[in-house]
Amino acid sequence: MAKLKLGVLISGSGTNLQVLIDACATAGYPAEIALVISNKATAGGIARAEAAGIPVKVISHKDFDGREAFDDAMHTELVAAGAEFVCLAGFMRILSDHFIERWHDRMVNIHPSLLPSYKGLNTHARALADGVRFAGCTLHFVRPALDDGPIIAQAVVPVLQGDTVETLAARIQVQEHKLYPTIVRLIAEGKVTVDGEKVVYGADVDLGQLPLSSPAV
Ligand code: GRF
Repeated sequence: MAKLKLGVLISGSGTNLQVLIDACATAGYPAEIALVISNKATAGGIARAEAAGIPVKVISHKDFDGREAFDDAMHTELVAAGAEFVCLAGFMRILSDHFIERWHDRMVNIHPSLLPSYKGLNTHARALADGVRFAGCTLHFVRPALDDGPIIAQAVVPVLQGDTVETLAARIQVQEHKLYPTIVRLIAEGKVTVDGEKVVYGADVDLGQLPLSSPAV
């Protein structure tokens, strides 16, 4: 079966990009990365893609007059590279509705909170300020509203006494890195669909094998 061609959008260190690169390099993984786009020339993820021999484009939002023009440029590059599916992996720009509609049910994002709680930025600081006992991450299809869209999978971690933004973020990132390649595999295998804005897994998916619930940490 042909591999699903991914476009990965980044702005930063690219640790989620790295786990996708690593997964795609394993035998039988049903996806491959056709293109990485960074809106920042300084993003650490660029070197990760280059080291793996994956095409990278730096498209700075600052070079465009508006959001739509910037998004159009990204869309053009994604299509030219043959990308069929978009993974947002620490991409820090808000996308235009037009771009999001073009990739409807073909674009996912990893967000460092248990959505719908803590949309937006500074999720860990806000969770710590609220004293919540559990935090986590969410992989979801992208819709025009910020950090909205059908939830595909979530992983939960405990908030521990003495946690800082850094320690909590690190604990959550461990789970992000398990979740992203696991779910992209299922998507590429056609086992994740959206029905009435709810995600439905194929009948043959063993949900017990997925990092969907509170893991031991
Ligand atoms: C992750 O924590 C992700 O949840 C958020 O941005 C961060 C990206 O980290 N959307 P990295 O660039 O993948 O290391």
